[in-house]
Amino acid sequence: MNYHKENILIVDDDIHILELLKRHLQSLHYYTFKAVSVKEALAILKSKRIDLLITDIKMPEVDGFELIKYVSEHYPLLPVLVISGYISAKGALEMGKSGVVDYLVKPFTKEELKGAVAHSIQSNVSTKKVKEQPAYQFKELIGNSKAFNNVKEIIHRIKDIKATVLIQGESGTGKELIARAIHYHGKYSRKPFVAVNCGAIPEDLLEAELFGYEKGAFTGANDTRNGFFQAAEGGTIFLDEIGNASPKAQNSLLRVLQEKEVSKVGAQKASKIDIRVIAATNINLLEAVGQGKFREDLYYRLSVVEIEAPPLRRRSEDIPLLVARFVQKYALEYKDQVMGIAPEAIQILQRYSWPGNIRELENCIQRAVIMSDRKIMPQHLPDLYKFQIDFPETQLKSLSEMEKEYITKVLALVNNNKTKAAEILGIDRKTLRAKLN
Ligand SMILES: Nc1ncnc2c1ncn2[C@@H]1O[C@H](COP(=O)(O)OP(=O)(O)OP(=O)(O)O)[C@@H](O)[C@H]1O
Ligand SMILES: [Mg+2]
Repeated sequence: MNYHKENILIVDDDIHILELLKRHLQSLHYYTFKAVSVKEALAILKSKRIDLLITDIKMPEVDGFELIKYVSEHYPLLPVLVISGYISAKGALEMGKSGVVDYLVKPFTKEELKGAVAHSIQSNVSTKKVKEQPAYQFKELIGNSKAFNNVKEIIHRIKDIKATVLIQGESGTGKELIARAIHYHGKYSRKPFVAVNCGAIPEDLLEAELFGYEKGAFTGANDTRNGFFQAAEGGTIFLDEIGNASPKAQNSLLRVLQEKEVSKVGAQKASKIDIRVIAATNINLLEAVGQGKFREDLYYRLSVVEIEAPPLRRRSEDIPLLVARFVQKYALEYKDQVMGIAPEAIQILQRYSWPGNIRELENCIQRAVIMSDRKIMPQHLPDLYKFQIDFPETQLKSLSEMEKEYITKVLALVNNNKTKAAEILGIDRKTLRAKLN
């Protein structure tokens, strides 16, 4: 038989459709692999060379959008053909244009399928060369402001090396997302990424959890166990909320970073580990060092590379992009349709200060999508956000408040460059630092 070379992976939770597609494609001389869930699809993608992915959108648990997102990040050259009964999904895909996605609406004829498959595979071959994006684009990290582009630039520089990284930033600024981006875009992405919340583990269990233990090391240690560090071997360990690590935990971590080896609780000797450490905190660690709450030597070991996750109010240019992504996400999730947002509503969002940062923005959009029909209007936003605009002058401010606001604004404009800010403000750096404290 005259077989095409291409392997096609079909993903649909409906086994009848799966079977039908398989029969059609086989009669067109393609090899096929079937998956009834995204999870299964991922397993196949990892073990087989796939030339075309055909997927449904609406599936229980993880949906087709997540799969497409994953594929565009991990297999950017793999063409995707979406088969769905919902026309609305097409618009959504175009909004989040990834360039490789083709679309076929159910029901379709075998001829239409043949045409679409050939087109998808073909378009991939012809666009392969031009499709390379600049290296510092990370699809899940939305934002194009100067402040955020700096972050992406650093991610790009460090993703393939194992230097220790410290990510600092307010709550909800995307620290974990940044840590994951470093891992999953780098050359160790196939190794584990293990996230540990340092503040959440009870002090007396911490060493055992982090480093594992030998049988009989303490009561209840019935067999030898690996800890998080061993589990992350070859990959990345993400030490979240490092500022909450107890003094004892800080000691142990320092030893690991210095010696690059860990010893299980109760073990006679340490063993070497090969691991990248990324730590994150939403408190100012240097301040904590100053107050004697955090070991200075550990701080310097951790902050070989430092990343400041900028607060949303310093990158409000990114708000329209983020809003578009969240509207698209929740409109599909809740309404299975495409929705819009009025420019007036975006303006309101851009003028709010977002103390909870991106997490707060995402929650706000999620709620607004539920509260509106086709288009999010100002009335669908909580009043809290609007008050800031409607009555800006009624609250008279003190000079020191004004000063603080102005300093913040200047700092944002110069991208937190304190030397430049001091110059503009006409004071020296020391004075500026004092005022910031
Ligand atoms: N640049 C971004 N683009 C899109 N979504 C983002 C971005 N940054 C953060 N988010 C989303 O905002 C939410 C909060 O992000 P994340 O959990 O990484 O923040 P965090 O800094 O670790 O917060 P916390 O300090 O509270 O743990 C997540 O849902 C994340 O997906
Ligand atoms: Mg976090």
